[in-house]
Amino acid sequence: MKKEKLRIAIQKSGRLNEDSLKILKDAGVSIDNGKEQLKASARNFPVDVLYLRNGDIPQYLRDGVVDVAILGENVLVEKGKDIIRGEKLGFSKCRVSLAVPKSMKYNGIQDLEGKKIATSYPNTVKEYLTKKGITADLHIINGSVEIAPNIGLADAICDIVSSGSTLFKNNLKEAEVMLKSEAILAISPKISEERQQILDQLQFRIKSVLNART
Ligand code: PRP
Ligand code: MG
Repeated sequence: MKKEKLRIAIQKSGRLNEDSLKILKDAGVSIDNGKEQLKASARNFPVDVLYLRNGDIPQYLRDGVVDVAILGENVLVEKGKDIIRGEKLGFSKCRVSLAVPKSMKYNGIQDLEGKKIATSYPNTVKEYLTKKGITADLHIINGSVEIAPNIGLADAICDIVSSGSTLFKNNLKEAEVMLKSEAILAISPKISEERQQILDQLQFRIKSVLNART
């Protein structure tokens, strides 16, 4: 009989990738990075690691194709409200913010009424603006969002802010912090009982790592 393995997804490339591998390693899960680059297995723990695009991960969790993932909370807020939340992992801290050109006089959210906002986080922005009673025109783009005001595509943007250097370089200023985010364990609502048992062991180890880090 084939031994049951937990399927864990981590970001393929980007800011979460390295810290995700590090926390797994610290939890005693050594991943063999073989030739098969998008899938790897651990030598000493029953897990397979899948390297996926951030934005695709909520759907894999929803479908139960992946059991657990290390993901930014911001992604769950945007498209994974039905995904189970596990431990917060303390890295990849960032904000999801609205930003406007430095030259704009910004007095408050009412200044965005009727404006064009470029973002990769349409659901998050919509929910925030609706709560504030503001209607804006959203332009969905997948990257390099901060360039939008400079090229006349939008009046404002909503994106992740970490060091703030991308805003700075594009002559933008943070206008509203909509949410704060960090890496989190995201768990499939369809995880099987056998795999949940493996996950329990992994979570126990991760908690010890987190305790040791503080
Ligand atoms: C991310 C994010 C912001 C930037 C924030 O972009 O979309 O643009 O990082 O980080 P900072 O505040 O430290 O500058 P990324 O560089 O990953 O590129 P992309 O948006 O084109 O995917
Ligand atoms: Mg960016």
